[in-house]
Amino acid sequence: MVNHGMVLSALGAVTDPELHYDIVTLNMVRNIAIQGGEVTVDVALTVAGCPLHQRIEQDVTQAVEKLPGVSSVQVRLDVMNDEERRNAFARAFQKSQGQKASAPEAQRPPGREGNLWSPMLGESSETVVLGIASGKGGVGKSTVTANLAVALERLGFRVGVMDMDIYGYSQGRMLGAHGQARANQEQKIIPWNAQGVHVVSMGMFVPDNQAVVWRGPMLGKMMQQFFTDVAWPELDYLLIDLPPGTGDVALDVAQRLPKASLVIVTTPQVVAREVAMRTADVAQRAQQRVLGIIENMSYIPMGGGERMEVFGRGGGEELSKQLDVPLLGQIPLESSVREGGDRGTPVLLSAPDSEAAITFLQVAQKIHAAAHA
Ligand SMILES: Nc1ncnc2c1ncn2[C@@H]1O[C@H](COP(=O)(O)OP(=O)(O)OP(=O)(O)O)[C@@H](O)[C@H]1O
Ligand SMILES: [Mg+2]
Repeated sequence: MVNHGMVLSALGAVTDPELHYDIVTLNMVRNIAIQGGEVTVDVALTVAGCPLHQRIEQDVTQAVEKLPGVSSVQVRLDVMNDEERRNAFARAFQKSQGQKASAPEAQRPPGREGNLWSPMLGESSETVVLGIASGKGGVGKSTVTANLAVALERLGFRVGVMDMDIYGYSQGRMLGAHGQARANQEQKIIPWNAQGVHVVSMGMFVPDNQAVVWRGPMLGKMMQQFFTDVAWPELDYLLIDLPPGTGDVALDVAQRLPKASLVIVTTPQVVAREVAMRTADVAQRAQQRVLGIIENMSYIPMGGGERMEVFGRGGGEELSKQLDVPLLGQIPLESSVREGGDRGTPVLLSAPDSEAAITFLQVAQKIHAAAHA
């Protein structure tokens, strides 16, 4: 008699003609029903009107009808929902990383094999991955990243920072980490440890703050390495400092890390809010979750609760309404924030009683709540 396991393993030999992985790995097999010798297989296609559906139907039929005890095979096709599709692509991508990693490559030392894709970045891991994005440059993404990292660490979490701003890297300076990259025995990059936070940045590879002059392919390669060749310890949070702009990098991150959510930083200014909106729009089209908004440089505390609103007001709140996501906090503009960043001691450590430091801690708590809601 044919059983479920036999059908499933037969289906493991059927590949999706477009994604080039078997339909079991891709979670395309929704259900298998067996009645006597009659087998019904429900297959979910990645896209509606998939031009190759006939081929899949035929391959599934052929694979299953060969099994002993099978008298008929019925294949019912359906289409994946968004989440199933995201999962399928993530699995295909992870698998491709694994294959690339185990392929012999001249520059890699012998004996280095296995899946280089850090399991922490996979969808089933518990690590919360947050991209810190803005749109407009200079609104404080990197400052927010460094301080949130320290704040989360203070709250008792294990925190990593990936500085994805390859040209404008700044996390080394902001968190007070320096020194050239070191590799472990498996040739994986050992992150810097600064203020209790694990950090990987382009600054590890560039001596004396030189400019990075790579273009496209090298840039892509570097980013790839940050995803695959870093010996990350177990982390509760991985914060990714994104370069300014609505562009490729955020999308690339979305594609590689489907589980990453975005935190969008804006100033109260209308222009900043508008550009941030575009970033959010791109994120949502890539089906990336926006966890919330942080408004930075919201006001200068003047003492006695008085505030000077240098950049206007309302940008963060309006953006949060537009996107229907929480406003996680309003960080004041204080010289201690800039000084902390310049000195490599984030304000949370250098001036823990400042309004900015207290707000960063509150934001970190809200992020934790939102990420686990
Ligand atoms: N709340 C704040 N109070 C005072 N200074 C701040 C504050 N936030 C950021 N800054 C300062 O503003 C400048 C820009 O901040 P930062 O580099 O974090 O922005 P960014 O968005 O990462 O910029 P880029 O788009 O270039 O990556 C820095 O000098 C930083 O110290
Ligand atoms: Mg920056």
